[in-house]
Amino acid sequence: MSASCRVAVLASGAGSNLSAVLDACELPDFPAEVVLVISNRRRCGALDIARARDIDALALPVADHGDDAVARDHAMVRALRAAHVELVVCAGYDRVLSDEVLAAFPNAILNIHPSLLPAFGGGMRAVEDALATGVKISGCTVHLLAAGAVDAGPIVLQAAVEVHDDDDADSLRRRIHEQEWRLLPEAIALWATGRLLPTGSRVRILRRGRLREGVG
Ligand code: GRF
Repeated sequence: MSASCRVAVLASGAGSNLSAVLDACELPDFPAEVVLVISNRRRCGALDIARARDIDALALPVADHGDDAVARDHAMVRALRAAHVELVVCAGYDRVLSDEVLAAFPNAILNIHPSLLPAFGGGMRAVEDALATGVKISGCTVHLLAAGAVDAGPIVLQAAVEVHDDDDADSLRRRIHEQEWRLLPEAIALWATGRLLPTGSRVRILRRGRLREGVG
């Protein structure tokens, strides 16, 4: 086990969660480092953030792979392996990962979603849908990605966010984001210190760590 867990972040958007993870990685004793950022977009905020912080940034638009997402994801697995990545973190990655990626990183892909799963999973409009449904509590979820599912898999951490009467999507999203920036680094640290024990559909959080090789 290396001293610091090697993490790749997959992102498609502004990259505020990536920034939060990178800030956490700079804290003394944080047990992980981001060694690679990959996007399905040719350009996006997350790639800019990575480059500004001297982290390898790779754009893998599907158009560069004959519009074949499986071929694109094959290139992704090659890049992840070449960088000796141990943990993959989807931080606003808006594509479904192929079976090859999931098989290459069993119980080693975290995803963050802006709702309390299983509510409002499976799409890009979780915040809007929560408002439209009139729920009083929403939030965010970090989970391990399960094969063949979108926004599903054993839940690692959740945080609740109260919905205010005067919320619109922007104001609610802002408060959910604040919780995501806290939750995602925490989940990475738990994984990196071998404290997540996936058992069936549940994840136990161990008080004391195990070897990372033991995850899953
Ligand atoms: C986050 O709300 C995340 O939960 C969702 O996409 C958003 C990404 O935001 N999957 P950012 O790009 O990290 O700012």
